[in-house]
Amino acid sequence: MSDGLEDVVAAHTVLSEVDGAAGRLVMRGHSLDELAGHTSFEEMAALMLDGFVPDLPAMKELPAALGAARQDLFETVVQKAAVPVTLGPVEMIRAMTALIPDGEDAGTVLRLLAAPAVFTAASLRLRQGLAPVAPDPALSQAADTLRMLTGKAPTKQQAAALDTYLVTVADHGLNASTFASRVVASTRAGLVSAVLAGIGALKGPLHGGAPGPVIEMLDAIGTPANARTWLESALDRGDRLMGFGHRIYRVRDPRADALKGAIRRLGADSGRLALAEAVEQAALAILRERKPNRTLETNVEFYTALLLEALGFTPDSFTCVFALGRTTGWLAHAKEQIAGGRLIRPQSVYVGPQPRQAA
Ligand code: CMC
Repeated sequence: MSDGLEDVVAAHTVLSEVDGAAGRLVMRGHSLDELAGHTSFEEMAALMLDGFVPDLPAMKELPAALGAARQDLFETVVQKAAVPVTLGPVEMIRAMTALIPDGEDAGTVLRLLAAPAVFTAASLRLRQGLAPVAPDPALSQAADTLRMLTGKAPTKQQAAALDTYLVTVADHGLNASTFASRVVASTRAGLVSAVLAGIGALKGPLHGGAPGPVIEMLDAIGTPANARTWLESALDRGDRLMGFGHRIYRVRDPRADALKGAIRRLGADSGRLALAEAVEQAALAILRERKPNRTLETNVEFYTALLLEALGFTPDSFTCVFALGRTTGWLAHAKEQIAGGRLIRPQSVYVGPQPRQAA
């Protein structure tokens, strides 16, 4: 038995490789460096799904097909469903996604790729008492996501920064949400069910729910001079520092630097970045002192928080944007599981009492 399934191999995949010792991420034969900052959401989806969805429109037609799917979801779900705005943004997109009919065909794949863009923007606006903004199918998915969020066309730099984020988080081996998606796909329940399992697993603070609390931490710390005292008392309380540590990486998560580069290219608030860098350095030093036997490094969520904040997303919606990027990976893994995998059904060891023998 392995606690938390650590080191257990549960799938062969052609989709991504995470080398935790070298701090290297490969997606479909390309290093993260080759992809992040050079690839759009649409190109990444085409790359990841290549060979798994034969009827998916070719790359040339994919942006328009996704645009049409966004428009369809806006009309059939956002304008029709009465999802309570008292739910959190992740719960709202989960509820809206559940209204998409299940299936395994190319149409379902397109709707699921488009869904988090439309539902995240609509949920955030509805929660602020604003009317949702209809999609513009002529735009790229990244540009349209930002436009549906703010009502204004984003700059090229902003759309490029969001593309960089979405590509960076598209896939990452057998992380918890991808495993959850593969388990559901292995039962042949359908891709909507598989993606809903992914959203459910992603929501937790130990996985995709970490970046929101990173902002709370930065706001509470306030100034670089306050970092060490604040972090020490958080650890004294038994809290974990969000944005640090990883099951696989024993060195710095390569995605952290991909996102830091995107923040710099965006020209975001330099004071905020300086505070984050000071907090990061203090956290790494304290974690090294307190956990000398466990290398705890910066993970993807630390700079995710800064980048998505700079793009105008509220901290409670960061996980929705993560879902927008990771849906590509969930779908590719679900399709790979359906194509070649058996039902996932591990064993457990019963350690409870046995029935008493009849006298
Ligand atoms: N702050 C303080 N201590 C930590 C942290 C942290 N962020 N991460 C791990 N530790 C400690 C933990 O307390 C334990 O100490 P001890 O052995 O003395 O009890 C030791 O390090 C090992 O922890 P673990 O829980 O066995 O490690 P894991 O591989 O199960 O956990 C993790 C990985 C990501 C859940 C964990 O590092 C964590 O909780 N990090 C904070 C949340 C976070 O940033 N999550 C995003 C992960 S990256 C995005 C993704 O891929 O989902």
